[in-house]
Amino acid sequence: MNKYINTDELAQLIDSGSRITLLDVRREVDVMASESKINGAQWLSPGSVDLWGGDIAGDRKAVIYCVKGGQVSQSVAGSLSDKGIDAVFLEGGLKAWQDGGFPVVNNPLFRKPYAIRESDIQILKNAGMSDEDIIHSRKVAEKALEIADRIKQQPLDMEFIGRAALFHDLGKARTHGMEHGRIGAEMGSSLGLSKAITDVMEKHIRGGLTPFEAQELGLPVKDYTLYRLEERIIIYADRLVDIITEDIVSIRDEKQAEEQFEHILSTILKYEKNDTTRKRYLNYHKEITALTLNLYPNAWIAEIPLPKE
Ligand SMILES: [Fe+2]
Repeated sequence: MNKYINTDELAQLIDSGSRITLLDVRREVDVMASESKINGAQWLSPGSVDLWGGDIAGDRKAVIYCVKGGQVSQSVAGSLSDKGIDAVFLEGGLKAWQDGGFPVVNNPLFRKPYAIRESDIQILKNAGMSDEDIIHSRKVAEKALEIADRIKQQPLDMEFIGRAALFHDLGKARTHGMEHGRIGAEMGSSLGLSKAITDVMEKHIRGGLTPFEAQELGLPVKDYTLYRLEERIIIYADRLVDIITEDIVSIRDEKQAEEQFEHILSTILKYEKNDTTRKRYLNYHKEITALTLNLYPNAWIAEIPLPKE
């Protein structure tokens, strides 16, 4: 029988400032659908306890919680106990904690689902975008959201992905030249779109230019780096949609565009543009493929603060 503690005991442990490891081991689908977590808890996938169990500190108590304190947290606590860790599960799980009125904080893994809004499509129409460009924009938004759906265990803002992808080419209402990024960003800010979205509009040209490339192309010299994973997903989706819809390479289905991405970029000059651009897109491809395949479980761990000691 696994050891457990109840919510009062956990609250006392936290209040007393004891050194504990607090682990949230809710299943992916559960943690991504929940807005809350206990402060200081680190989320780890219960399915890969064999991968991370050895990294849990052995010199302090580990408290494990799941949704209701059932099988999920009990089996993780059991695995850790087998490794000699003083591991206990939280009786009743997060539900009992919240029902008891104990405090929770925002869960960074929460994914609010997002669907493309017809009112946003109307904004593109009113701005004067062609039907063809609107179809492209919608497809990029759908593709980016679909890729994001396949990435688990990473905090992602779905609304930002969907809207920034939909608006990224707004400047094409005025010009299809290189400056459509900058012009689009200006149009976007006068429409009241957020700075995060207009940044994507400006930075998407060739997927995030270096200052040197910007100078060569006659664009304002500034930082076009795509710092957010959401931005890189959008730009990767943009290139994939071109490959899928333009009929330059023959591919069986959309999946094949991803599978053969490296080959396609290395052989079709229109997609490669130049060496620097190709390498940039290949980096996005590698990063996003690894994330969608879950090659790095819990890859985001380093970005969240460790439990308070
Ligand atoms: Fe564009």
